[in-house]
Amino acid sequence: MTIASRVTTRDFTRTRRTRRTEALRGLVRETRLDPSQFIYPLFVTHGRDVRDPIGSMPGQYHLSVDQLAREAGELKALGVRAVLLFGLPAAKDPVGSEAYAADGIIQQAARALKDADPDLAVIADVCLCEYTDHGHCGVLTPAGEVDNDPSLELLARMAVSTAEAGADVIAPSDMMDGRVAAIRTALDDSGMVATPIMAYSAKYASAFYGPFREAADSTPQFGDRRGYQMDPPNVREALREVAADIEEHADVVMVKPALAYLDVIRAVRERTELPLAAYNVSGEYSMVKAAVERGWLDERRVVLETLTGIARAGADMIITYHAKDAAGWLRS
Ligand code: PBG
Repeated sequence: MTIASRVTTRDFTRTRRTRRTEALRGLVRETRLDPSQFIYPLFVTHGRDVRDPIGSMPGQYHLSVDQLAREAGELKALGVRAVLLFGLPAAKDPVGSEAYAADGIIQQAARALKDADPDLAVIADVCLCEYTDHGHCGVLTPAGEVDNDPSLELLARMAVSTAEAGADVIAPSDMMDGRVAAIRTALDDSGMVATPIMAYSAKYASAFYGPFREAADSTPQFGDRRGYQMDPPNVREALREVAADIEEHADVVMVKPALAYLDVIRAVRERTELPLAAYNVSGEYSMVKAAVERGWLDERRVVLETLTGIARAGADMIITYHAKDAAGWLRS
């Protein structure tokens, strides 16, 4: 046997020697977490002084626009430098009109956040499901199927409108074909050549989005999203989706969810030099919270271990509802 563990004196192997103290573990650590890698999702709603707890996601809130300056202040103090915006519109309709209205909820939120902290990276989630009365991510044909190309036009309008309101990054999560190219062209034509696109490239049709659909009120009123989101067993298909988005000029690619898809994160990492995001989704968050509430898990250790695992798999940045807690723990 030639492996290092057999070349040992007394009781200590080489790896155990460098594991004995926190200082030594710090020196040999291969993956480090920093609050600057985290993206914190926010659910913004109409009204004033609204800070309503989201039942399915303990610790997360529906916030009105006037609450966002406080949020920006807390994030800055914690070193979290990016947020991802989701909106709850005043009214829903078949074409999701509020998604691309100049005074829509996301547009108002982007303005308020940039006013509060111009250095905060505001990322707009671009998708129609929160804004359509049928709850699908695009518009429908008379037969009730999601109609790809007319949906692209509306998604591009939403991208331009949120970027004009101040969003620094556009993150399409709809999974329509060709949306990155359509959004890139629309942004360029509106003079926003410098606004990057973070594409939800490999987004799976996952049961782990359950708590989010309560938070964003975006449950499809019929059917499901399996016709446009990816089938969980597929990884080569994820690489094709990523390649297509890169060809369409995505600046950042994403794998979502994270935990059941760490192999997909690794596979994408090995195929592209582009920055890679992973989305630690609502169900992954709520599972931990539920176990912690019952005293079954140590929240701090489990969350930091989880986020480290996602980073170790190859993600550069992590969208996570744990962002504020994790940033606080990393700094204490
Ligand atoms: C919108 C969207 C969803 C999520 C992010 N953007 C829901 C879905 O596709 O059904 C899920 C996020 C989460 O679960 O935390 N398309």
